[in-house]
Amino acid sequence: MVTTNRFDVLIIGSGAAGLSLALRLPDHVRVAILAKSNLEEGSTLYAQGGISAVTDPQDTFESHIADTLDAGAGLNKPEAVRFTIEHAPAAVDWLVNLGVPFTRHNHAGDQDSFHLTREGGHSTRRVLHAADATGRAMETTLVSEARRRDNITLLEHHIAIDLITAGKLGLADNRALGAYVLDRTRKRVSAIPARTVVLATGGASKVYLYTSNPDTSSGDGIAMAWRAGCRVANMEFNQFHPTCLYHPQAKSFLVTEAVRGEGGQLRLPDGSTFMERFDERGNLAPRDIVARAIDHEMKRLGAEYVLLDISHRPAPFIREHFPNVYSRCRELGYDMTLEPIPVVPAAHYTCGGVITDMYGRTDLDGLYAVGEVACTGMHGANRMASNSLLECLVFGTAAAEHIGSNSVPRPPNISAVC
Ligand code: FAD
Ligand code: SIN
Repeated sequence: MVTTNRFDVLIIGSGAAGLSLALRLPDHVRVAILAKSNLEEGSTLYAQGGISAVTDPQDTFESHIADTLDAGAGLNKPEAVRFTIEHAPAAVDWLVNLGVPFTRHNHAGDQDSFHLTREGGHSTRRVLHAADATGRAMETTLVSEARRRDNITLLEHHIAIDLITAGKLGLADNRALGAYVLDRTRKRVSAIPARTVVLATGGASKVYLYTSNPDTSSGDGIAMAWRAGCRVANMEFNQFHPTCLYHPQAKSFLVTEAVRGEGGQLRLPDGSTFMERFDERGNLAPRDIVARAIDHEMKRLGAEYVLLDISHRPAPFIREHFPNVYSRCRELGYDMTLEPIPVVPAAHYTCGGVITDMYGRTDLDGLYAVGEVACTGMHGANRMASNSLLECLVFGTAAAEHIGSNSVPRPPNISAVC
């Protein structure tokens, strides 16, 4: 076993949560970021719809909070919801300053305001987006910013296998001390010691056969935290996205909820609508309600899919707002400007995870969890659309501020015991 250089902060995960936390730390802090694949790969890269925030003067924090609590079936932690939503505008400003190209209105006189879309559960338009590839715009911006920082060491293709804790080493004062990490290129395991360890490993939806998630979402951080003695909660609340493309060559390609936000209608194979029978908000009911309704109708009819139809909107509008979904569908033989496309629900988001406080601290000293791996209480039983990227950024910032402002005692020299 090799022991590498010691870092101040070891961040396991390079998605929106891990990168935003790293970029918010003071630049004298020596940081290492691990990614089990290449740096960009993870759910963040594939996020489509956007990031929710109150930016329209007609909208209010109270309305965003009420919608989030309603979508979460009241099982959210109200202080986490308020904290996240009240910090959303600052999170968006930070992204804009870094250069994330959010879509803006393109009509004369309204050049500066963001184009806001709407998704399930939101009572108004409040989702900022970069066309239909918001995650790619965010992830590539954050990665290029991280590459510019001298205090950040980026370790791609490095898989954290388990946490090193004082307790596991038989030392007093249990706390996180680092992680055992497999370098996939050199096929070597080493111990990476750090004063503070952050789990930013994303969710666990890849445990399902049909999922919108990439392979990285295998729940590693949740398992590591559990093995280290941390509490985990709400794992039964795995969210299914209602509309993934039904196609053998595009296993669970997501068709963003913003398609319904811009007027898309769900239909049965005979062309009739059905969501009005399940919820008065129809196609824009919270995601769990829509996914259950689709599942119910597919089972009732023995259907393999339902249809999503936005072909009544002008073709240039569809191509401008949904360029990636449009071109992927075209590659697979569907023209969504002319015809409905077949969709099915698929596993999408882990609402539960490692229990944290409002700074992202877990039950183990020196161990934080941010992003989809965490259970902050923000989402309750069902995350509202576009609230995840937001939570990654807000809690990434809160954890960075806490780590930066607290001097954590130096861990013992673990090279002697590994
Ligand atoms: P991720 O972005 O998943 O990153 C996880 C990181 O952890 C990766 O770098 C991975 O390599 C690393 N990792 C994992 N395990 C290990 C290990 N053992 N060792 C080392 N590294 C490890 N949310 C929204 O708010 N708006 C949207 O529009 C939206 N659209 C979505 C569309 C799709 C198709 C998907 C899949 C999700 C979408 N979501 C959306 C959800 C959102 O994208 C994710 O919840 C969020 O990006 C998670 O960010 P994260 O930083 O926590 O994890
Ligand atoms: C989508 O674009 O439909 C996904 C949004 C989300 O998961 O929040």
